[in-house]
Amino acid sequence: MANVSQPELEKLHDVAQQAAENSYSPYSEFRVGAALRLTNGETVTGTNVENVSYGLTICAERAAVVRAVSQFGPKIRIAAAAVANLNGKPSPPCGACRQVLAEFTEPDAPVIFPAADGTRTMTFSELLPLGCEMKLK
Ligand code: THU
Repeated sequence: MANVSQPELEKLHDVAQQAAENSYSPYSEFRVGAALRLTNGETVTGTNVENVSYGLTICAERAAVVRAVSQFGPKIRIAAAAVANLNGKPSPPCGACRQVLAEFTEPDAPVIFPAADGTRTMTFSELLPLGCEMKLK
């Protein structure tokens, strides 16, 4: 796994948990937070923002990615990611979020998320082994 220690990863998970406090989730009441540790040393958070038309809902992970690029530009790289929720339920990143994270995340970056019995940590390439690619040139 990348250059992020277990204590740092657990701290990142706490930051994701705090981010979930800002969740706008009146429809599902599932309060999710995400925290990204960038290779530039910065940490960026996101939370889920739901919409009455449901399909326009933005997940916490994608909110964090959009925020990271907006704040630090297109060259960001993600060294570690954490997902948390305030509902005490498992919440691995959804497929759409994995594909969006793939754009910026190192293959060996650890991803920590709530599982059935506590948290689980996997590398990003374990989480998305065969993501969409487009190499035309
Ligand atoms: N959600 C996330 O924020 N991240 C995920 O990876 C999966 C689901 C949110 C979206 C929606 O607001 C709520 O959880 C229920 O699906």
